[in-house]
Amino acid sequence: MSANVSITRRATFAAAHILCRDDWSDEKNREVFGACTTDHGHNYVIEVTVGGVLDPDTGMVVNLKHVDAVLRREFVDAVDHRHLNRDVEFLRGVIPTAENVAMAAFHRLEPHFKPARLMKVRVVETENNAAEVTAE
Ligand code: NI
Repeated sequence: MSANVSITRRATFAAAHILCRDDWSDEKNREVFGACTTDHGHNYVIEVTVGGVLDPDTGMVVNLKHVDAVLRREFVDAVDHRHLNRDVEFLRGVIPTAENVAMAAFHRLEPHFKPARLMKVRVVETENNAAEVTAE
């Protein structure tokens, strides 16, 4: 019998952002991005799900210490207490919606879990919204 197994690790970070396009009028920005067209911050949660084959020696798909270290090094350290529009190299030129932040995190984290596989990144922006990026 075989089964797909995955494990999820969670981390938190606080960051500021503004959602607006310089090439749009104030009116259009307000129409599309609402209250997010002024600087504000969120207490974000990121959840990283890694899947693969259970190692019979450890009972693990991947060591959570490794997931934690990668998550901090590749993502959390770069965004925590930063302004997502201005301070984060890998978000440069990107509108930092929850979707785009999750997408950027997915691409940064994906190469680091082999032979296990990054299955999902979920970014919770507020208690009412979260974005998910899943492996194809
Ligand atoms: Ni916001």
